[in-house]
Amino acid sequence: MSDLVILCKTEEVVEGAPLAITADGFPPLAVYLHEGAYYVTDNTCTHGMALLTDGYQDGHEIECPFHGGAFDITNGEAVSFPCQIPLKIYTVTLKNGIICVPASEATAP
Ligand code: FES
Repeated sequence: MSDLVILCKTEEVVEGAPLAITADGFPPLAVYLHEGAYYVTDNTCTHGMALLTDGYQDGHEIECPFHGGAFDITNGEAVSFPCQIPLKIYTVTLKNGIICVPASEATAP
C-alpha cells in the first residue's frame, strides 16, 4: 500500500455527511458516501474559500455553504451557478475497510 495514502475508515463516513480529511501532500479533502460507493474530492469550493463539508450533500451533489453553488461528487462537474470550475476528484481504493487515494494524485509540492 506504499503507493496509497490512507484517508479514513469506511465506517467513519456517513451518507449525507461528508468527512473532512487532511493528508500530507494533498489539499483539504472531502470523503463522501453515496449509494454504497465512496468518493473523494477537494474540500475547497472552486468559487471561493468555503469548505464543502460544511455544505449540504443531496444524493450525488454537494452544495456549497457560501453561495449555493453545487458539484457532482462522482465526476467533479460544477452543476449549479456560481460554481463553474470543476472540482478535482481522486481515485478511491478500498483496502480492508480503509479508504485510500493514490500518492501519485497528491498535488502539494
Ligand atoms: S464559495 Fe462556493 S459557491 Fe461561492
